Amino acid sequence: VEPGRLLHRGKVKAVYEVPGHPELRLIDFTDEATAFDGAKRAVIGGKGEANAAISVAFFRAVERAGVPTHFLRLESPVRMLVRAVEIIPLEVVVRNRVAGSLAKRLGLEEGTALRRPVLELFYKSDPLHDPWVNAHHAEALGWATGEELAELERLAFEANRAMRQLALRAGLELIDFKLEFGRPVGPAGTPSNGGAGPRLLLADEISPDTCRFWEVGSGERMDKDRFRRDLGRVEETYAEVRRRIEEAARWL
Ligand code: C5P
Repeated sequence: VEPGRLLHRGKVKAVYEVPGHPELRLIDFTDEATAFDGAKRAVIGGKGEANAAISVAFFRAVERAGVPTHFLRLESPVRMLVRAVEIIPLEVVVRNRVAGSLAKRLGLEEGTALRRPVLELFYKSDPLHDPWVNAHHAEALGWATGEELAELERLAFEANRAMRQLALRAGLELIDFKLEFGRPVGPAGTPSNGGAGPRLLLADEISPDTCRFWEVGSGERMDKDRFRRDLGRVEETYAEVRRRIEEAARWL
């Protein structure tokens, strides 16, 4: 299929319509990198292709665990055909270990163990810098129904189990990650589940841009923190994560 009108240019991906198919979208992954709400920018050679390939492996792994995703197929190494969704304006973060903004917020050391995975919600808003919210805010403000929020939590924890397993087979500990969910847009713009409860699709991407991976044993950062924190070997790390995840996914 060929791209039509540009619908949305995000900080690192572009979303296109597919002419004649309102239920489909094309997503182009680029080599652009941004951090701190776009204040830090760079080009990371090969990142678009690596993130597309890594996302495919994780989408397949979570689908096998019963988590429906928007992924349909790769049209090129950097172009993904997906189901069109109406994005719920929440960043759904799951954490297996303390790191990043949680360490900062609670004054904890990065790497502190958690007795169980933790789910956090952030309201997607660039001008507000994605503020922390809870499910009560999301329901009260009409961003999602109570049923959708319950489903989204269940799917996020299920995805966590499948993603941790795949990462571990690649010698990587999944520390935390961010997911986005959407409601599928039907061919006539109608809900496609006949009213049988909420139907949500896992959307966006699953890559070192949206996950923290620490190498098992060494604890080496193998994700976007290398770029955020100027740790060096950024391009090499994305390529290495791709190699390992694709290798680990072959045995699923
Ligand atoms: O910054 P924080 O510690 O809250 O991030 C938690 C996880 O969510 C990290 O893996 C980070 O890469 C991801 N994240 C993201 N997009 C954001 C915020 C966080 O992918 N806007």
